[in-house]
Amino acid sequence: MSGDSKPQTVADKIHYMEKFIDLDKFLTENHNDPEHIIAYFKENHSRYRHIYNGKGNMHFIVSKDGETFSYDDMFYQPDVAINYAPPGGKVLELGPGQGENLLHLAKSHPDKEFLGIDLFPRELKEKPANLTIQKQDYTSLPDIPDNTFDVVYGVETVVYVNSEKKNKLMAEVYRVLKPGGHFLIWDYVTKYPFETYSREIQTALSVTEHGGAFAQIEDEEAWKAHFSHAGFKTVAINSLTDRILPDLKRMQKHFDMVMAHPLRAKIVFRTLPRAYTVNLIAGWIAYDSAREHLGNYNEWIMQK
Ligand SMILES: C[S@@+](CC[C@H](N)C(=O)[O-])C[C@H]1O[C@@H](n2cnc3c(N)ncnc32)[C@H](O)[C@@H]1O
Repeated sequence: MSGDSKPQTVADKIHYMEKFIDLDKFLTENHNDPEHIIAYFKENHSRYRHIYNGKGNMHFIVSKDGETFSYDDMFYQPDVAINYAPPGGKVLELGPGQGENLLHLAKSHPDKEFLGIDLFPRELKEKPANLTIQKQDYTSLPDIPDNTFDVVYGVETVVYVNSEKKNKLMAEVYRVLKPGGHFLIWDYVTKYPFETYSREIQTALSVTEHGGAFAQIEDEEAWKAHFSHAGFKTVAINSLTDRILPDLKRMQKHFDMVMAHPLRAKIVFRTLPRAYTVNLIAGWIAYDSAREHLGNYNEWIMQK
């Protein structure tokens, strides 16, 4: 496909793909129950390492200026979270995945204690004494007493929790935080409610949810309602969408290798497993979704 005819917007990309992929077929399967999320991460473990940074982080890189991409910015999110922990403080990461954020913090803050809770925790390459990771669904934390943590944070993980369970999760986080403790989230939101978008954009959002095993990506107002329902006060809500564009652009090049060539894409979609191909679609439209501000990347800083 030559440069000029390459689709440049999310809607154009959906039209382009509809010529050779049955997108509706991708949207019929259950994709977000805990078993599916575990299967998704098992299946994608090595691909995530390849696409992200090879080390095990599974989140977007927040560029300092929104223009330059650098792996040095990989720890932006945990480094912001740790600013809210006092000396000797206790920190919980929701959904640490391959554990790189916690490993980074545990090594650089030996005076603090860290816990991670994930449905599918991976073996850590190092085990500092101040770091524990547990296999558990974090929407219910019965073993953790009230007022335990100074900071609870989650990077690109609460998007896996549906609207109903978000209220349950936020109530649990509120309970286990100390009075005055902070809750920080980096996650995807839509700018407006799903029903307000065109057919193409709704398809793009649904394919993204299926591709990433996410629950429905909620809009900013819905997120705000979850936080205030639990009793949190807002410290700051920052859109970092423009600052993840360099990372998304880097990833788009990777997905372009298949998707921008119809014949190659057709062969890939006929031969490779659904989990791979649906993820390919989601990855290919991510840069344009962010550039068009359909899907935003927010930093939420809340306080008990
Ligand atoms: C995209 S990864 C992000 C990993 C990590 N936060 C990072 O920055 O590299 C999302 C993680 O959330 C975990 N997760 C999703 N829903 C969960 C739940 N209800 N309870 C525990 N972990 C969950 C997944 O198993 C996965 O490891």
